[in-house]
Amino acid sequence: MDDLALHILDIAENSINAGAKNVTINIIEDTKEDLLMIEIIDDGKGIEKEILEAVTNPFVTSRTTRKVGLGLPLLKLAAENCEGGLEIKSEKGKGTQIKVKFKHSHIDRQPLGDVMGTILALLANEHNINVNFFHRKDERTFEFDSKEFKSILENLALEENSLITVANKYLKENYNNFKTN
Ligand SMILES: Nc1ncnc2c1ncn2[C@@H]1O[C@H](COP(=O)(O)OP(=O)(O)OP(=O)(O)O)[C@@H](O)[C@H]1O
Ligand SMILES: [Mg+2]
Repeated sequence: MDDLALHILDIAENSINAGAKNVTINIIEDTKEDLLMIEIIDDGKGIEKEILEAVTNPFVTSRTTRKVGLGLPLLKLAAENCEGGLEIKSEKGKGTQIKVKFKHSHIDRQPLGDVMGTILALLANEHNINVNFFHRKDERTFEFDSKEFKSILENLALEENSLITVANKYLKENYNNFKTN
């Protein structure tokens, strides 16, 4: 995977597959600490213990019958290649928290890429989930709560389709401003 936005999409799709209604995506960039941290938190069904072990240790298992994909192991590897790592906390019936850290300036650190494209893809594909997005870059922050956004637009009597169109325009503009200022 070429950029972190695609990793985020993959991890958030796991959340949706797990029946999550709310997905929180936090990106924290701290240049003083030379740290990039990404969190993906959901209220889905949680990860089975067996899968959790396989996911965190995918290459040491001798079992070949296990059906575990590569989304989480690949992100873990990407982080470990950048003096970082991946942590998973999951509770059955409550949800899952994925926290991944990178050395911000590491030469092998993938760029963030089209994060807003990821957020919009999640919203466009799944009308029933709420996405709470937060990005902090040193002292500046950007926040987007799809639930809040939806209720504002509903008050304006906009339809679901135009919601995506408006979200697209609004978010891309504002997020670009955030990133470039
Ligand atoms: N947020 C989550 N909630 C519940 N289960 C999860 C979650 N994330 C991952 N899992 C479980 O862990 C497994 C491994 O996830 P991973 O993303 O590594 O692979 P995958 O989704 O199965 O396949 P791929 O991402 O390669 O298409 C999933 O199949 C699922 O069973
Ligand atoms: Mg996956």
